[in-house]
Formats: sequence, structure tokens, C-alpha cells
Amino acid sequence: MWILPKEESTMKHVLSDWDLSPEQVTQILHISEKIKSKPSLYKHTMEGKTLIMLFELASLRTRISFEAGMTQLGGHAIMYGVENQGFSRSETLKDGVAVLSRYGDIIMARVLKHDSMVEMGEASTVPVINGMTELYHPCQNLADLLTIKEKKGKLEGLKIAYVGDGGCNTAASTIIGCAGQGIDVTVVCPDYPEYSPDPALVVKANEAFTGSVNVSHSVEGVVDVDIIYNDVWVSAGMEEEKKKRMEVFPKFQVNAALVKKAKDDCFVMHCLPAKREVEITSEVMDSPQSVVIDQAENRMHAQKGLMVWILDQ
Ligand code: CP
Repeated sequence: MWILPKEESTMKHVLSDWDLSPEQVTQILHISEKIKSKPSLYKHTMEGKTLIMLFELASLRTRISFEAGMTQLGGHAIMYGVENQGFSRSETLKDGVAVLSRYGDIIMARVLKHDSMVEMGEASTVPVINGMTELYHPCQNLADLLTIKEKKGKLEGLKIAYVGDGGCNTAASTIIGCAGQGIDVTVVCPDYPEYSPDPALVVKANEAFTGSVNVSHSVEGVVDVDIIYNDVWVSAGMEEEKKKRMEVFPKFQVNAALVKKAKDDCFVMHCLPAKREVEITSEVMDSPQSVVIDQAENRMHAQKGLMVWILDQ
């Protein structure tokens, strides 16, 4: 979906994974690969450009990889941490974002509620990038696709199992982003609606994309997959649910026995931060099959590609 706030504008927002067509994802990955292989060619690309970064929730990778990436492209990033006070001290989000878009060239934000992200897109006159909401994590998926392509040499025709909380933001972005690139996705999760992907999302992705999307409530769902993907079981803001989650999720732990069910050359991904010995064992996370640190590095390369693409640089 292209958002055209002004007549004849070609401004692009990435408020969710649905804002990027599979062809656009391919373009971004191509730019990211070029930048990663020859960073010196791009060191002036963003000269004079400013990225404004807003966070309602803590971050290590998103915050640092965006700033480092913008620096490496010759631009500048400004961090505005609003973890404790929210965006709107005494003004509306709409007013604040309208002002910020007069200062910066791109706004990247991590917000608690996806509705705030949509509101930011409506108010901004510069591109807005989703740095994670409770519904989507599109920058994570771009990095994941870049990593999969590097490790497997292709995307189309692969099989990925997303193991754990099938109802979370990273699962949704994996479904949309991977199925869009022709990867078959199986979400392996507890048999509870709240821990399974939204059925409407599964239907929509199956209709829209060449990769299939299925849900399995058995760990046998990882049999024969090329990639196992994993995320934390309890994210920030879920403390009240922690007891139930810690009862329901353990049989979906990514451990050596589970990985053995997949293909011999299967690799393991985790968007990090990880809770070792909870959703993933150290034995797996530190094994040769784990690509989690390369995956985290690729946050920076993929986001550099995304920023160059979004500003048509
Ligand atoms: N994966 C991820 O988004 O990491 P951060 O929460 O540290 O940004």
C-alpha cells in the first residue's frame, strides 16, 4: 500500500510489512546486499540527511543499528527517548510528528500501539518506518530475509518454522515477509488462539503470496524445514501473563532434540534478545547451526538499504 499524503507525492511509509510489496522487498534486499559488500561506495549517500528515532520501549539492536547505519551512510541520527513519558507530553501525537517531519528526513519509531504508528504516518510529511509495534516488526524481517538469502543462496522454495508465540509481532512479520518471498511458513505454537497467528492474517497471506502459511500445534511442524525461527515467550508489558506463558510454551523450546527433527543443514534464527535456557538452549544458540549474531548484524545492513530505498537515494 502506497500512502500519498500530498498530490503527486511518491513518499513511502513502512508502517507494517503490508506496506512493502514482494517486489519492493526484493529491491531493498538488493540495495542492502550492494551496500554491505561495498560500504565505502555509499558513505556520502545520506549526507545532510537526518533520521529521527523515537522509542516508547527499550531497544538495543534497533536503536544502535539505525544510528550506526545512518552514520555510515554519511547522515545523522537523533534519538528521542520517550520510554517514560510517551510522545505527547502536552501536545497531540499528530502535532508532535508534524513538527518533527519539518526537522528530519525520515522518522523511525518504536511505539506501544500500532494505532500510534498509523497516526504518525498520517501526520508526517516525511517517510515513517516502523521500528516495532505490538503487531509488526518489518525491519526485523528485512534483516531476516537478508540473512536467509546469504546463508542459503536463495529465498524461494525454502521452508521456515516459526516456533513459539505465533500471535506475536515477529511471527506476523515472518509470515508476511517470508511468504511474500516464496518461503513456506509453518507457525509451530501452542493450541491457544492468543498464541496462534490471527486466522485472517493466515488467509490473507495465503491468498496474496506464493509461499504457503500453515499452523501446527505440534513440534512435528519443524520436520524437514530449512530454518527454525524463535523469539522470547514473554515480552515487555506481558508480565501479568508470564505464569500462564511459562506453563504453555516449554514444549516448544528450541533445543537439540527439536532441531534434530529439521533438515540436517537447517539453521536457527532468533531476533534477540534471547532468554537462554527458556525459549532456546545455549547448546543450540552457540552451535554452528545458529546464525543469530549474523542476523543481528544484518539489521544494520537491511535498514541502510531500506533508508536508501525510501528516500530514492
Ligand atoms: N530484535 C530487536 O528488535 O532488538 P531490540 O529490541 O534490541 O531493538
